[in-house]
Formats: sequence, C-alpha cells, structure tokens
Amino acid sequence: MISLRSKTTAGATAALVAVGALALTGGAAAAPDSPGEPRYTAGDPGAGDDYFPYSGNGGYDVQHYDLDITYTPPDPAPAPVEGQLDGIATIDLVATQDLDRFNLDLRGLEVRSLSVNGKPATAIEPPDPDVEVEGAAYWQVQDDDARIWELTVQPRPKIKAGESVRLVIEYGGTTTRPRDIDGFLYGWVTTRDGAMVVSEPEGAMTWYPVNDHQTDKATHSFEITVPEGKVAVANGLPARDPETSNGWTTWYWDAPDLQATYLTTASVGDFDLRETYFSSSGVPIIDAVDTKLTTNALNTTNNSLALQDDMIDLFEALFGDYPFNSYGSIVDNDSVGYALETQTRPVYSGVAREGTVAHELAHQWFGNAVSPERWHSIWLNEGWATYAEWLWNDHQGVESAQEAYNDWYAPDRTPSYWEFQIGDPGPHGLFNGQVYDRGAATLHALRVEVGDDAFFAGARLWLERYNDSAATSEDFQAVYEEVTGEDLDWFFQIWLWDQVKPPATWTL
Ligand code: TRP
Ligand code: ZN
Repeated sequence: MISLRSKTTAGATAALVAVGALALTGGAAAAPDSPGEPRYTAGDPGAGDDYFPYSGNGGYDVQHYDLDITYTPPDPAPAPVEGQLDGIATIDLVATQDLDRFNLDLRGLEVRSLSVNGKPATAIEPPDPDVEVEGAAYWQVQDDDARIWELTVQPRPKIKAGESVRLVIEYGGTTTRPRDIDGFLYGWVTTRDGAMVVSEPEGAMTWYPVNDHQTDKATHSFEITVPEGKVAVANGLPARDPETSNGWTTWYWDAPDLQATYLTTASVGDFDLRETYFSSSGVPIIDAVDTKLTTNALNTTNNSLALQDDMIDLFEALFGDYPFNSYGSIVDNDSVGYALETQTRPVYSGVAREGTVAHELAHQWFGNAVSPERWHSIWLNEGWATYAEWLWNDHQGVESAQEAYNDWYAPDRTPSYWEFQIGDPGPHGLFNGQVYDRGAATLHALRVEVGDDAFFAGARLWLERYNDSAATSEDFQAVYEEVTGEDLDWFFQIWLWDQVKPPATWTL
C-alpha cells in the first residue's frame, strides 16, 4: 500500500525528488538479442512540453477513458471544503514503443488497485532504479514542490509496440482545491455544493489517472454518482437517463469526439439541467445553470445563453461546421475567477457574460478541435477566441473589429508593456492579458495584411488540416504562407516575437 507523500522537511523533499526523478526515468531495459527484436524501455515521464515537463507521458497513445466516479461533496459549513472521490478508470491505450514500464499522471489521489489486461499489479514503494522490480507492479511519486505527480506502471508481460492494453485503475481520496503553477484554482475544484472541474493546462491529473497532454486526445465516457438531488454534468451528450437508488443518482455522459484532457469536465452541483434545444445546423445545446444564482447574474446569464445558437450560426459561417456532437454551458454560482472552454460544455464562474460566451464557443474551433501542440502556442487559443469576440460584436453592430483593434492599439503604454513575446509567454504567462489582446490584434493585422478571402480561407484550412489534433505557431504561419504564396516571416516576427509596439499600418 502506497501512502501519499507530503513534504515534512526540506531534506525529505529533496530526497524524494532524487528518488522520484530516478525512479521515473530509469528503465530496466533489455538489450536486443538481434536487430528487429523487441527492445523494452521505459516510456518518457513527460510529453516533451518544456513548460510542464512532467505533464503527459511517452510510449503510448490513449484511445478511451471510461470514468466511473462516486463523489461526496463537502458537508455544510463550518465543515472543511473537502469532498470524497472514489473512481474506477478504465483506460484503453495502444503502445507506441516496446514498453518495460510507462507512466500516467495522477495528483493528490491514491491508487488502490491496478490491473493490466485483467492481470493485477502489486503496489510498491518507488523502487531503487538500480534494482530490477520483479513482476507486475505500480508505484506513485507525489512531489508538490517540484510539481511531479506520476503513477508508474510496470506491466508483466512487457508490452510490444502496437499492442492494445486495457488498464483498470481503482483510485480515490479527499478532494481539495488544487492550484495551477500561478496559484489559480483549477482541476477538480471542490465547492460547497459539489465541484467545478476546469483543468487547463494540466489539472486533469487532479481527478483521473491520465496522459495529461493535448498531444494525446482520446474519447471519454462517464458514470458520475452523486447524492440524490445533485446534478453531474460532463462533456458530450447523456448516454442514458440518470438512475437513482438508495439516495444516490448516477449520471451517464458520453463524449465520442477526440478531446484534449484539459478540456474534460464532470462538474457537480445544484444545477438546473435545462431542456435541449438546437442550433439551426442541428447542434444539440444543453445548459446547466446553478439554481442558487442571484437574479442579476441569472438575467445576464440567460440573456447570453439565449444567443448561443446565433453565435454558432455566425462562427459556422466564418470558420466551418461546429466541430463536435453537442454544445451548452455550465454556469456555477461558485467561482475560480475565470471561465473555461471545456469541450462541448464550457464552465462559467458566477455569471456568463455575452463576450465570454462568444469567447468560449469560439474555443471549440480554436483550441479544442485544433489544440496547441506545445503550451507556448497558447496565443492560437486565446488570440482566436478574443478575436471571435470582436467579430461577434462587429456582427451585432456593437463595435467593429477595426475599432476594437484601435482601442487596444491607440493608448500610450509603457515600454515594459511591450516587453512580452506572445509566441513564447512562458508557463507563468499563459493567461497574461497580452496573449489575449495582442493575440487578437495579431489576427486582425493578419486579416488586413492578406485580405478577407485569404484570412478566412486560411482559418478554414488550419481547422481542416489539424482537426482533432494539435499544431504550433510555425504550422499556423505555414498555412497562411500556403494560402497567400507569400513569405510571412517578417509579419510573425513583428507580432509574436518583437518586444516593441508593432508599427501601425494595419487598417481595414
Ligand atoms: N482558457 C480560459 C479562457 O480564456 C482561461 C484560463 C484558464 C485562465 N486558466 C486560467 C485565465 C487561469 C486566468 C487564469 O477561456
Ligand atoms: Zn480563452
């Protein structure tokens, strides 16, 4: 039985880092007997993203996560805001190398049993990397200070490249209120009435064992059991009617579209699950709104949500078909301080404002259907979603996109404001206002530069080419160079990299 480690002294932490790092990467690799023979090595403990080196893992490709979760929200105040989560994750994956062992990400929860293709593995302490572990085993490293949270699986027999594997992992523990690298609440955020589940950039690991990086998209299905009266809302569509027995209700959701793990949600609360309605193109829209929202917040929210079908119409006309099987919003009375574009079903903090609703909807195309292959390309998410807000306001006659650009461009700002590269904002700069505003301005300037036809043709080509996948700023530039036949290095140099105010030559 593995106990979760928490830091007691600085010395203990340092020791754990050392053991952890070695145990994570050290693989008992068999030397090949002859060329072409399997060579079993350890999967990488990261996906290779330098902003979050231990997020995601190498050596396999997840196809599907089935999450069967029983969740008990906190007791009323003054009880601590802590919940109890008990899960069974059934994970179907395909090995992409001959695997001696491989990792998943799991933070703050304990694995209680784990099986590989039906064969149980033994729980052990993180082993000495020089000593070969006998038999099928698994171990956890939890280092909050180093932000290393890894579950290592040693399958026996070893796994050959191309083999399909089913993992069944029973896990659970007390849920709290995890924070991202900047101290923002994220992941499975326990609330008094349930949980607000918003996991960007690498918070999915706070609630399920996962290959927590957008380069490994997978389909998801959910069975979320909560005390009778609570509602659990996840991605996609209800798979069947909820079932209640003995004071517990199980909610079934199915998300058959490929999905980056940071976009998974299964929020729990006192939600009014509203009747499904449809966009003119037939996208089913399901909204869930906290029954405790105040009249003001509810008014604003209802007015904005009523525009979702019109917004889908506009964005489909500009960018092409809505990319997933469903849509709708979760509006919680609790707040993490921001909204998140969870796939098919964004989550809002306290109120859903019109601009934010347009923003989260636009993310379904930009960020969700096509994700940033590395987190340094985050401007492709936030720049596009912000530009889509400008386009929505333009369409509504509120303000033209050019006026919005001018509003950002015109004010005098200190040189330090411009000392920022949206092309590489750093892990602490992911949600800096510049990523949003200069990102949107970059797209407006690009539109002016190449003309409306090429601009929207480029957007559609980008979305088609990288649909259900992930790509970088370089790929984005290449799409526009292909569409225009021009070298656009100079343009992206100015907008993504130069740390000065771009020259004001972009007016429609
Ligand atoms: N991606 C969200 C949006 O713009 C924002 C987000 C995620 C965020 N985590 C955050 C914003 C932390 C501020 C702080 O739709
Ligand atoms: Zn956004």
